[in-house]
Amino acid sequence: MLLHLTYLLVALFGTHTGKAAGHGLAEVVDQFHRHNIPEDLHIDFNPLVQLQVTFPQVNGSSISVDAGRQLEKNETLLSPYYSIDGHAGPGPFVIICVDPDAPTPQNRTLSEVRHFMGGNFSLTDARDPHHLVNTTEATTYYHEPRPIRSSAIHRYIFLLYKQSSGYTAAAQTLTNPNYAIVRFNLSSFMNAAGLDQPIGGTFMLVGPDASSPLKSTPPTPALR
Ligand SMILES: *[C@@H]1O[C@H](CO)[C@@H](O)[C@H](O)[C@H]1NC(C)=O
Ligand SMILES: *[C@@H]1O[C@H](CO)[C@@H](O)[C@H](O)[C@H]1NC(C)=O
Ligand SMILES: *[C@@H]1O[C@H](CO)[C@@H](O)[C@H](O)[C@H]1NC(C)=O
Ligand SMILES: *[C@@H]1O[C@H](CO)[C@@H](O)[C@H](O)[C@H]1NC(C)=O
Ligand SMILES: *[C@@H]1O[C@H](CO)[C@@H](O)[C@H](O)[C@H]1NC(C)=O
Ligand SMILES: *[C@@H]1O[C@H](CO)[C@@H](O)[C@H](O)[C@H]1NC(C)=O
Repeated sequence: MLLHLTYLLVALFGTHTGKAAGHGLAEVVDQFHRHNIPEDLHIDFNPLVQLQVTFPQVNGSSISVDAGRQLEKNETLLSPYYSIDGHAGPGPFVIICVDPDAPTPQNRTLSEVRHFMGGNFSLTDARDPHHLVNTTEATTYYHEPRPIRSSAIHRYIFLLYKQSSGYTAAAQTLTNPNYAIVRFNLSSFMNAAGLDQPIGGTFMLVGPDASSPLKSTPPTPALR
């Protein structure tokens, strides 16, 4: 009886890595609109596939992002891995993560912050055909969420694109050491790189915690 009850509860509410918010393509789209993401990023969001973003944890477990779900800041410290549900073709793919709410959702003068940008991802993992594997270094290494202490929660949005022929050249201008990760404009970058609208995406909400900085650190050119 107890076992049955546990099973039922898991089925109803999902597990921690679970299915409550933002699971299923229609639900992901709904969450994007509910959080004004297409408007704020100046993109169209009509995904073909589901992008799964999974954060490894220091204790060896992992946490998957469900669109619109809040994660603890300390659950998002380590660089995530990415996979696709659905048919996206062979690739290569580009993944970009931005925060449009910096330094706060009410004052977006530092937005967007580019938290990750990498190309040359493909589905070439013999053990897991859904796993996106990169064959070259990221342009912008993963930067963990760091909302300032006084800020409301931020949206951290991951988008998946088919890699365009112009992507590598456009990405190379961003590896210029004078390019900070702040004040990035995703839709301008998409235009410059010839990237079509994203084919997948998801997002998480992360707020400050006791370890959060009081002020935004000034943009350092050395940050890639
Ligand atoms: C890892 O920590 C999380 C909480 O931070 C906990 O829910 C989970 O059960 C832990 N996993 C392992 C394998 O210890
Ligand atoms: C993560 O942070 C929360 C509060 O923000 C805290 O309760 C929890 O213990 C922390 N977990 C780890 C593994 O540090
Ligand atoms: C908005 O944020 C910037 C960058 O942190 C800061 O310099 C500015 O004073 C803030 N503006 C307001 C109105 O709070
Ligand atoms: C894939 O990207 C990560 C993060 O930039 C990097 O550490 C790793 O070396 C890359 N893999 C290859 C094969 O370049
Ligand atoms: C993608 O890989 C090709 C070689 O396969 C390389 O020439 C190009 O610089 C890479 N682009 C990026 C953005 O890493
Ligand atoms: C980003 O670029 C788009 C055009 O692609 C423009 O409409 C928008 O105002 C720009 N955002 C900022 C903050 O400059």
